[in-house]
Amino acid sequence: MVQRGAWGSNVGFILAAVGGAVGLGNLWGFAYSASQGGGAAFVVLYFVFVLVVGVPVLTAELVIGRHTKRSPIAALGQVGGARLKWVGLMFVLVGFGILSFYSVIMGWTGRLLVDFIRGSVPEDTTAHFAAISEGTGAIVAHLVGMLLTILVISRGVQRGIERVSVVLMPTLFLLIAALAVWASTLSGGGPGYAFYLHPDLSRIFHTETITGAAGQAFFSLSLGMGAMITYASYLPGHGNLPAKAAIIALSDTLVAFVGGLVTFPVIFHFGLQQQVSDSAIGALFIAVPRGLLSLGGAGQVVGIVFFSALYIAALTSAISLLEVVSSAAIDSLGWTRARAGWLGGGAIALAGIPGALSSDWVGFLFQLVGQAFLVFGGLLLAVIVGYLWKDAARAELLSGFRSPALATAWIWLLRTVVPLMLAVTLYFAVLALGPAAKALFS
Ligand code: PHE
Repeated sequence: MVQRGAWGSNVGFILAAVGGAVGLGNLWGFAYSASQGGGAAFVVLYFVFVLVVGVPVLTAELVIGRHTKRSPIAALGQVGGARLKWVGLMFVLVGFGILSFYSVIMGWTGRLLVDFIRGSVPEDTTAHFAAISEGTGAIVAHLVGMLLTILVISRGVQRGIERVSVVLMPTLFLLIAALAVWASTLSGGGPGYAFYLHPDLSRIFHTETITGAAGQAFFSLSLGMGAMITYASYLPGHGNLPAKAAIIALSDTLVAFVGGLVTFPVIFHFGLQQQVSDSAIGALFIAVPRGLLSLGGAGQVVGIVFFSALYIAALTSAISLLEVVSSAAIDSLGWTRARAGWLGGGAIALAGIPGALSSDWVGFLFQLVGQAFLVFGGLLLAVIVGYLWKDAARAELLSGFRSPALATAWIWLLRTVVPLMLAVTLYFAVLALGPAAKALFS
């Protein structure tokens, strides 16, 4: 068997996992969902959901990964016998599907970064986005993103993923913090903060707000498709997994929250509320550039920082997605890492081309594999760990964690609250597929 990779340090693992989690979902999806879901009401629900559902499922993934030291297909086979291998296979396919559209959005981000660096963002950002989001330019940008991702994966866990994460993640935190400070100097941002931080309680009990928060949290934390199983499979020793899960979830949530402190003042300062409520993509790729253009040179600098941050966030997430696919090929087919990276990544690059030709396809895939399947995957994981594998899971957890009471609470959550919440969320995620599919044909 090919030798399995391993993280060089605890911090390396944490930064890589946070890198996988922090992505376009944090900087693009969170603020948008919050603006649609009643501002702070959404934010509060989101925090509750991360705590009650996200952290337990994340812990379950870390426990499975570290215990089995296998990629998802083999890991689920070990946990539940051959009859559960299909769950792992589904995870790999979901990773494949997500990366195929994620890399397209990453390409748009990269393209705008280049435009800001060259100072060539045209006045009409709507037409510009239409031109760069579909067609040859979009394909090229998508392929460049895939190429970067493959290059990192091929170098290995420690020399590739960990090395890149250790440099890029602190950089990303600094860039976002700088953006938040800059945003606080904007005049007229006050109502933006107020909207973001003042809870509109009339919306908090709407099913859409609740399930929207749940779906967003799952995507943002990269749960339900084995990314965290895969990364945890490279963990040596017996560290404290709930602590790791908490740090990862907290960092991811903090970045999303600070991202909102950037976005909302910007939106209100430039009076872009209408464009933002039209679409999430519009907010990021049309409204923000339009606002920044009006600031001249300073806007150019902010644009470079903003799109660099987005690109870094997207790249480290893309890496974690490709690692799920590659590690499965390495473990299950005996491929070398280079071969798995190039062939797996190459296939995803091809599969991404339809998305680079139609942004409706991107939207549909997001609803399908980025929402419905992730929530379904999380539901399966909760049931598997909570019912079928609970004694082994408990023992694995307690090998590096001293609180049997919390371990009991964890299993209890996985058996009750978590599957219940996820089943309801899944129902609404499936309902949302209809409109997304309709957009494809209109
Ligand atoms: N969590 C990433 C984001 O917020 C997306 C992602 C989902 C990455 C699932 C890996 C797995 O952008």
